[in-house]
Amino acid sequence: MAIQIKTLDQLKTMRKAGLLVRSTLELVKANIKAGITTSALDAIAEANIKRGGGTSNFKGYHGYPATICVSVNDEIVHGIPGDRMIMPGDIVSVDCGAVIDGWHGDAAFSVIVDPKDEARQKMLDVCEESMWVGIAAGAAGAKLSDIGHAIEKYTNAQGNYGILREYGGHGIGTSMHMEPHILNYGKPGHGPTIEAGMVFAIEPMITMGTHKTKILDDKWTVVTTDKSHGSHFENSYCIAPDGKPFVLTEVDGGKANLARFGIEVSELLS
Ligand code: MF3
Ligand code: CO
Repeated sequence: MAIQIKTLDQLKTMRKAGLLVRSTLELVKANIKAGITTSALDAIAEANIKRGGGTSNFKGYHGYPATICVSVNDEIVHGIPGDRMIMPGDIVSVDCGAVIDGWHGDAAFSVIVDPKDEARQKMLDVCEESMWVGIAAGAAGAKLSDIGHAIEKYTNAQGNYGILREYGGHGIGTSMHMEPHILNYGKPGHGPTIEAGMVFAIEPMITMGTHKTKILDDKWTVVTTDKSHGSHFENSYCIAPDGKPFVLTEVDGGKANLARFGIEVSELLS
């Protein structure tokens, strides 16, 4: 199977899905505070996606029961919303996706509830920046594995973090998870050449300790085996028909962050 190539019109629809994902994440973020339950956050997300004319791609995905994933502290990804109450000092990672007219968006962020501490905040910042480093490395003409290599190299230069091995980024389009799988580590110069019309979700997941994880009895929640805390950031970006990237799940298309790498984003999707 080949990587799905999108037309400009299809990318424009994916942009709508991406913006709905972003507005949902922003709304959830604004509601994260000590005392709120993770299921309350899920209800906020569900209502926003409905209001925006989209549907959830998470709900029902291999039986997944909710609209978002809320992963706390040593939970890195795929935490199921429920009665758990957010507490002071928690790291909260929220992953959300939405579909509009059959086209998918997918993004995630992590945040620390006050009181924050410097070491864990730096870990979140490194994870977020590694996502941008990965997107910057995934320009047209690059090889797919250049993305993961750049993420790993940057992360390892910042400190002793665990980079999850069993989970990674992915192609996205008419399904949430499509070819190719995108590792967050590895050697550069391998895999397919990145071309116009491709859309990738880039999602580094790192921890304060081990890269090793296990899945809880709920069959979803991914936790570190050493209970170290972690974080997860994700954006979906495309290479537009003009060969320039555009981050579908960021309000500014990634313009400000990619400018730091000397990369111009496409004007075709604004
Ligand atoms: N959005 C996640 C990812 O980034 C996948 C969530 S799986 C689900 O790839 F079942 F929770 F939807
Ligand atoms: Co994803």
